Amino acid sequence: MGGAEGTGGADNLGYDMINNLDVDVALNHRRGHARDLAKGVRMKRIEESSHRTLICVAVALALVLPAQRVGAQGAGMAMPASAPAAASADEAKATRDVTIKSGGQSRTFTLAELQGFPKVSLARYSVIGAKMGLIGPYTWVGASLIEVLTRVDPTIANPSHKGSEILVTSSDNWKVRLLWEELFAAVPRGAALYNIKGCNECHGIRGEGTAPAGKKAAPALAGRTLALDAVLTQMRAGGDAHGGINPYPESQLARGELQAILDYYSGSKAAAADTFVPPSERRSVLLAYEKEGQPATGKDGLIQLIVGPDEAASRYSHWVKTIEVVPAAR
Ligand code: HEC
Repeated sequence: MGGAEGTGGADNLGYDMINNLDVDVALNHRRGHARDLAKGVRMKRIEESSHRTLICVAVALALVLPAQRVGAQGAGMAMPASAPAAASADEAKATRDVTIKSGGQSRTFTLAELQGFPKVSLARYSVIGAKMGLIGPYTWVGASLIEVLTRVDPTIANPSHKGSEILVTSSDNWKVRLLWEELFAAVPRGAALYNIKGCNECHGIRGEGTAPAGKKAAPALAGRTLALDAVLTQMRAGGDAHGGINPYPESQLARGELQAILDYYSGSKAAAADTFVPPSERRSVLLAYEKEGQPATGKDGLIQLIVGPDEAASRYSHWVKTIEVVPAAR
């Protein structure tokens, strides 16, 4: 499946604003998310009128990830045509159950049922997203995605599922993809870093490239041999040199990390064999329902996807509604 599902007008919102407004910030149309980012971050309210009236919160982000995310994967948002108060719109999107589909099985878990799973926490977990600092750090508690998937499909860890994708859809139709290997097997270092650093948001989860309508296409990286120094220059410069996005400094993308990413996509056998193990404290992928010791509210999303290994806020989803294991295309 491609990563360019987003074509609806509303999906262009964040990206258009980046192009149109003279703000050195990236935007996040996902207000619940913006609320998380808001702590300690300069905020700006913007009225958007070309698509619909909607209060958006512009947050100083290190990268344009959340804005581009809208184009990369947020297809056809189910938003009301007229804009109600932001808070109540978010409340309305809150999910109190999540449906898991795998291998012909489908099962819906209520929040209470999720809370019945062994509690897993990501303590003081922060991700990059704000120019002026990290998001959080927050402590999240929830059910392990591995456990929940296994409850529905006991065969899920079986290598026959290799190549599957785990498609997470929120109630506003926001979509995030995970590789089966990320949960149940080993991922080559380059492929892991690529997702951890948020490149997947624009270039697609397998480096296949995405070309959302009305946006700058992010080229495929898979199968290409790219010169490290040239790409490094592009990444460090950002802006016009890299699709209009903010620079990746050394602290966010070390030279060796980019090398691993490029080596992996060049098809290097050695790179494919060099597997990555996330640090133990970040290993979990959670369906979180508790933040900082408090139950998540409807505004926050109630049921949220938190991908522990990710350093960029690229696969952090609110209002998770369905999770489907999509088998590899044969
Ligand atoms: C917010 C979207 C976005 C993110 C995130 C992003 N890119 Fe890009 N990237 C683009 C776009 C758009 C282009 C095309 C630039 C152009 O044509 O001006 C591009 C171009 C590139 C190119 C040049 C490819 C070529 O054909 O010459 C490379 C290499 C690249 N990106 C690597 C990365 C890596 C590695 C990451 C993660 C560390 C990353 N990008 C993150 C949007 C993004």
